[in-house]
Amino acid sequence: MEAGMSVPRRLDLWNSWVSDYDNRIRIIADFCVEDGLKHDGATMAQIPSYVTSLPDGTDTGLYLAVDLGGTNLRVCAVDLLGDSTYSMKQSKVAIPSQLMLAATFSELFAFIATRLHLFLQKHHPEYLEASSSNGATTAVKKDNILLGFTFSFAFEQQALDRGTLLRWTKGFNIPDAIGMDICSTFQSEIDKLQLPVIVAALVNDTVGTLLARSYTSPGKSPTLLGAIFGTGTNGAYVERMSRLTKLKRGEKPTGDEMIVNSEWGSFDNEMKVLPDTVYDQALDTESVHPGIQMFEKRISGMYLGEVLRHAIVGLLSSQGSVNTSSKLHEAYTIDSSFLSMAASDDTAGLTVIRKQLDLLLEIDASVEIAEAVKILALAIGRRAARLAGVAIAGVIIKSGRLSAPIPTGSKKNAVAASVKTVGDVEQATFDSSSDPARKRTGLWSMIYRVFATTAWWLSLPLRMFGGGQIKLVTDRPTDMIDVGVDGSLFEFYPKFEEIIRGVLQEVEEIGIEGERRVQIGKAQDGSGVGAALAARAAGKARELEANKLPK
Ligand code: BGC
Repeated sequence: MEAGMSVPRRLDLWNSWVSDYDNRIRIIADFCVEDGLKHDGATMAQIPSYVTSLPDGTDTGLYLAVDLGGTNLRVCAVDLLGDSTYSMKQSKVAIPSQLMLAATFSELFAFIATRLHLFLQKHHPEYLEASSSNGATTAVKKDNILLGFTFSFAFEQQALDRGTLLRWTKGFNIPDAIGMDICSTFQSEIDKLQLPVIVAALVNDTVGTLLARSYTSPGKSPTLLGAIFGTGTNGAYVERMSRLTKLKRGEKPTGDEMIVNSEWGSFDNEMKVLPDTVYDQALDTESVHPGIQMFEKRISGMYLGEVLRHAIVGLLSSQGSVNTSSKLHEAYTIDSSFLSMAASDDTAGLTVIRKQLDLLLEIDASVEIAEAVKILALAIGRRAARLAGVAIAGVIIKSGRLSAPIPTGSKKNAVAASVKTVGDVEQATFDSSSDPARKRTGLWSMIYRVFATTAWWLSLPLRMFGGGQIKLVTDRPTDMIDVGVDGSLFEFYPKFEEIIRGVLQEVEEIGIEGERRVQIGKAQDGSGVGAALAARAAGKARELEANKLPK
């Protein structure tokens, strides 16, 4: 911003910035999906997950899950109850910051294995007793418990239990990890502690979210997409196997569909169409990974507070009212919860914002400055939610599921009634027809023409888990499009879903009618339950394989 510009002028500038996004947002919707399906090494990686069917809620059994996200490490024991519900014990710790930059990958996994050990001691000592009384490794194996590992980073997968890290994101950087096999590195740390645990499945958190959502929403429309809007952002969706042309013949498992981890956080790293400001640029330059995850840097919780911090620095410096010793100058002192707070402060004189600015950053803000901060928080949050909407819209259009018959009643109630553990997020409608920034282009029509093959999607029954064992899910009407979402931003940023729905309505190929058919629900414990479901699938596949072996 220009020096000396007054705050009101500044606010005009931010408002026009928001409208500018409204126009450009259509362009970003043209996902580079195809490239990722055809080639390894595409900007948007489109990673095959080797999960070829969706759970229908009938899976049972006790599984361990470890969830390494951007901020926390969770160890869970998930008891799948087979009626779309589960019970779960879990322990969560913040990932120590030095481990995010550990010298070796093994060091990180040694920590995780120790947490796993503590968890078993506390919640499932029966496994450890069996293990120590039996002594030898072979005897321990008798009581092995399967573990699903949710690893919330981009990794190339070669099988359900094999994958190598492609790149770190979200502030992690352990260089020797790149290219290393994730499951076996974890397994060897588990084995050092002689724990009776087998790392049976590796899933990205979005794949876990999709699986968990599918498990907890039985008998209804199949889940299309699992999306995360938390510390990072990403989506995994159900893709036709035939379109995954980068998988060679021998690499394709049996099945017609596979869940693909899109890694949409790295969409448009080339910055051809993404919105950009000096604040985004400052954030990127100072980040651990400059030049990558450019979409994520505009959407996810890890970065939004930092964009706001840079914008406030710009605002106050040009006012000549910035205290150089203020914490405002420390990177990442504002997190996304501040954004949610600022965006929803409706007090007279914006007392909540002013108090937080004082507490957090030692800034004695005038009402005018607090107003500017609120507008900035709204603009940054709205931009994030609208970009999130674009990503969801792109997947929905491409799936072709919108061409299914229009629903006659509200499916939502039916789904809510059948889910015991997970509550749905209420749908909110948003009439965007009065939005002056609305503009239609033929871009979406083009994407639709190129990608949508409705008959294919409608004619294919979904497969159940079980390594080639096909069970048809026959009782799911295909008229609603189910999307499972998880993440702090989605949960806490005011009206995040409403803004997403506004985008869906604005997009020509979805529109108000189409948007009504999109069911967006929170995928509770996606990373834990999803990993357990993947471990269950791996267990079934192992059993099948063992039965095939000559006795
Ligand atoms: C990672 C994804 C992950 C997403 C959400 C991104 O930074 O690259 O693999 O799914 O964060 O956690």
